[in-house]
Amino acid sequence: MSLMIEIRKVQTIGGHRTSHFIKSKTDAVIDAENLMLLPALIDPHVHFRVPGGEYKETWATGAAAAIAGGVTTVLDMPNNSPACSTKERLLAKIDLIEAELKAAKLPIRYGLYLGADRRHLNEMAASKKQIVGLKIYMGSSTGDLLMNDRSSLDEAFQIAAKNDILVAVHAEDEALIQHNRKKYADRADAAVHSLIRDPAVAAKAVHLAIELAKQHGTRLYIVHTSTREELSLIRQAKKEGLPVYAEASPHHLFLNTGLYSKLSTRALVNPPLREEKEADALWEAINDETIDTIGTDHAPHTLEEKNAPYGTAPSGFPSIELYLPLLLNACAQGKISLETIVSLTHTRPQEIFRLPLNDDVVLVDLNKVKTVDNKSLKTKAKWSPYEGMELKGWPRYTILRGEIYDC
Ligand code: NCD
Ligand code: ZN
Ligand code: ZN
Repeated sequence: MSLMIEIRKVQTIGGHRTSHFIKSKTDAVIDAENLMLLPALIDPHVHFRVPGGEYKETWATGAAAAIAGGVTTVLDMPNNSPACSTKERLLAKIDLIEAELKAAKLPIRYGLYLGADRRHLNEMAASKKQIVGLKIYMGSSTGDLLMNDRSSLDEAFQIAAKNDILVAVHAEDEALIQHNRKKYADRADAAVHSLIRDPAVAAKAVHLAIELAKQHGTRLYIVHTSTREELSLIRQAKKEGLPVYAEASPHHLFLNTGLYSKLSTRALVNPPLREEKEADALWEAINDETIDTIGTDHAPHTLEEKNAPYGTAPSGFPSIELYLPLLLNACAQGKISLETIVSLTHTRPQEIFRLPLNDDVVLVDLNKVKTVDNKSLKTKAKWSPYEGMELKGWPRYTILRGEIYDC
């Protein structure tokens, strides 16, 4: 007889109570009387900082944080040092990840993006079996990846289409950022970040990315959309039948420019925090399926780095272990259904990135109320912009490759 985990009396989205079985290396029973069964989450956008940023996060700490949040698949970005923009660096990165996960005994599932670099576009086709997509930074963010000239963009979109490679874009227009930086040169407060990288900066880049996708027939994934204008462009592209997909990140759904007065440079992120009305547009776009996925953009930096003056402090928030609690809390508030959460965090990312199916699950306690506490976070960065927030709905067990992990 094969060995099984039996999850007894668990609640499912359909409202049934049932026993759910998962193949395992040992027999085990979980009494899940007060728990809800969901497919484990996929996070299509993380920065686990290997190689070069191990003091911020490693795959041991990143995987522990992910699993504690009900996530069993992560897609990791290429803005490492050195940037992951060649096949050789990609293979070296895979070796490092495998060794770290093995030592930590945390066999999380993962996929990697190749970074677009105009000097290395010939690496795309050679790397296509190892990657989930090409990541293009149309505007600068953490790291030195930037590709914003029209001819390189044309070439990358064309090669990607020819090789059936998904193109993921950080869509902010670099020239407009530079222009605004001069315009606001007399300001040194963190809130100026949202003016320098204003909604027009994002819209201009999204407009160009969609134009290129349309011209070359490229599958396009727009990461961390954050404004009404971007979403209108994406909605229109979808109406035209273009293979254009949109991601939203938790900080643009649950935080806004009000946070600068409390966190100052710690509130910096790219694209920046927006006014509350932009979050309203994101929620509308979740409900009409213009937004396909939620990617946390888990971007750990140390508190020391984040507390530096504007201009020096890096942008980005750790958040992966709060991905599911933030969404479950929104569900408790009636803003989103469990079905939509599953679509955004599991079904759509699985389809868009063509990931193999698996039987990983997360058991959640929809009634558990807990306050976010930096000290209990597993990310190496040990902080989050959600500190002090009371959330209702937390994961209890994550089951990854037939192993049970306490959350
Ligand atoms: C990310 C990081 O730190 O790696 N920062 C951020 O503000 N989002 C990079 C990125 O996703 O743009
Ligand atoms: Zn980005
Ligand atoms: Zn990112």
